[in-house]
Amino acid sequence: MSEENRSRVDEITDRVIESFDNCPSDRLTTILKALTYHLHQFAKEVSLTTEEWMAGIDFLMATGKISNDKRNEFILLSDLLGLSSLQVAINERADEATESTVLGPFFVEGSREFENGDDISQGASGESTFVSIKITDAEGEAMGGVTVDVWGADADGFYDVQYPGDKLFNRGRFVSDAEGRVFFWSILPVAYPVPSDGPGGALLKATSRCNMRPAHLHFALVKNGFSQVVTHLFVDGDPYLGRDAVFGERDSLICQFLEVAGDPEADDAKLRTNHYEIEHSFRMARG
Ligand code: BEZ
Ligand code: FE
Repeated sequence: MSEENRSRVDEITDRVIESFDNCPSDRLTTILKALTYHLHQFAKEVSLTTEEWMAGIDFLMATGKISNDKRNEFILLSDLLGLSSLQVAINERADEATESTVLGPFFVEGSREFENGDDISQGASGESTFVSIKITDAEGEAMGGVTVDVWGADADGFYDVQYPGDKLFNRGRFVSDAEGRVFFWSILPVAYPVPSDGPGGALLKATSRCNMRPAHLHFALVKNGFSQVVTHLFVDGDPYLGRDAVFGERDSLICQFLEVAGDPEADDAKLRTNHYEIEHSFRMARG
């Protein structure tokens, strides 16, 4: 770049940053000034060509076009670029609470309520799994009254909302009992590909990146006066651990899903057949 070009380039950046000086919100000013600075730095660093800039605009257009009320491709892009995991890591309370990870696109607000001991799989394909969770505060005191949303894919790696129609399976809402316990039947999580038929998938393909998420079950814990915990439990031994397409895995969230032989004497029919069991505890921080 010539000297003249460089000073023109820097002048443009300065002028755009100054244009936000009269913004009435301090926070919005901070965000827009920093965004402008880094966006311009990026274009300067790679000497962005017209074709590349246009390709980027087309990519964002395609991202908007494929998005709807059931599918948000912008969130998927944020996930694939690690922005979602970064944003979670910036805001979490990992010193006092269970480590958090991405919410993902398949959380559904207002999911069906279940009681401890119920089976949330509701006919989904998969290996029967008994999940037992204990919730405590940072001091280890049991926490009753925590609302716990759980959701997971079926054995084919699809969430209910990915099927046409109004399928509902392997998701539910519990409230922890006085001992801080939530327990239910679900299915063994399997690894699955992130939706790959849109711009997100094209990005992975063009860069020869892995499109898989290691097997996991999602949890979101909410209680007044405590920071929300949005997390997963990952299945130890999954071959995609270390290669998560959305950089969401955390060592502390990898758990043993134990294979248990059916007990012919058991009262519960599910316990009479071979199944998996997992036990884990979650911590929530005040604030
Ligand atoms: C998920 O775990 O449900 C998910 C997260 C990010 C992108 C795609 C799927
Ligand atoms: Fe998931």
